[in-house]
Amino acid sequence: MKKKLLTLTIVAECILLPIAQAEDYPSKPITWIVPFAAGGPTDSLARMMADRISRELGQSIVIENTPGAGGTIGATRAARAKPDGYTMLVGHFGYMAAAPSLYANLRYDPVKNFNGVFRFPDTPMVLLVNGQSPYNSLQDFLSSARAEPGRLNVAHAGVGSASHLTAALFAQKAGIDIQGVPYRGGGQALTDVMGGQADAIFDQANTVMALVGSDKIRPLAQTSPTRSKQFPDLPTVAEAGIPGFEAQTWYGLYAPSGTPQSAIRRSFKAYQNALADPAFQESLFKQGLQSLPDQEYPGEALEKHTRSEIEKWNSVIRKAGIQPQS
Ligand code: MLT
Repeated sequence: MKKKLLTLTIVAECILLPIAQAEDYPSKPITWIVPFAAGGPTDSLARMMADRISRELGQSIVIENTPGAGGTIGATRAARAKPDGYTMLVGHFGYMAAAPSLYANLRYDPVKNFNGVFRFPDTPMVLLVNGQSPYNSLQDFLSSARAEPGRLNVAHAGVGSASHLTAALFAQKAGIDIQGVPYRGGGQALTDVMGGQADAIFDQANTVMALVGSDKIRPLAQTSPTRSKQFPDLPTVAEAGIPGFEAQTWYGLYAPSGTPQSAIRRSFKAYQNALADPAFQESLFKQGLQSLPDQEYPGEALEKHTRSEIEKWNSVIRKAGIQPQS
């Protein structure tokens, strides 16, 4: 009888433990690793999401900027973090899908070392030049690049960053030779384009929105397949001269593999609640973000998406002839 009671107690504890953990989580601040410098698109997006989601969770989310090597340094740090739900990675297609084909000695595996938590809204990219630039259209830019191969400088946030991969694809599809100039984040890269130290940048819409209409920058084209609602008058790269060209950035929140499902589910629920808020939807729109791929987007779907993007980028990188880094 005593043995039976003990067994029942153990069974009850096994059932109750995950529920208790789910209810307790989060019991202290959570860290989101952003693998680029503060002030760039990844950082701005992460801070905006963290601010809203932390209100749902009732705990603060601390942004830790760990820049370098196109996001792979921060992703390595996240892959090695304790899988307890208190350290997560804000990941994008560069270091979570393209990096395995770009870095010969990558120290993490985006599939094996991470669990998906949820996918953020997609972010279109915009080709920008300085407000005083001689280029008024994509055609001007292409003509100059063709006239003087290798002269135009395009700023980017490191090998494998969204700005780098988009510029590399663009150069390959347009058949032009442009010089990439690497930075530790898109914020500094954009500042230098505005200051005239670099000729152009492919930047994410969320850092561009606030500057559109000012004399600091001039958008030449957007990279989505069709015009986004936020830039209805800006031609797509495909319309403006490179048929079939398309690129946009997707983001997801990842947890180191082994993170308790209770923490992942609680974070996902907080995200769903935030998205159900019309005021938050409105602020996402104002930041240039595209509607969500799917409102019911559990972590496994992000993992599946990551796997298919790894394959896609492997073939894109080989075709574009982008050389792997050692
Ligand atoms: C990029 O990949 O280009 C980034 O989004 C840069 C950044 O967020 O700073």
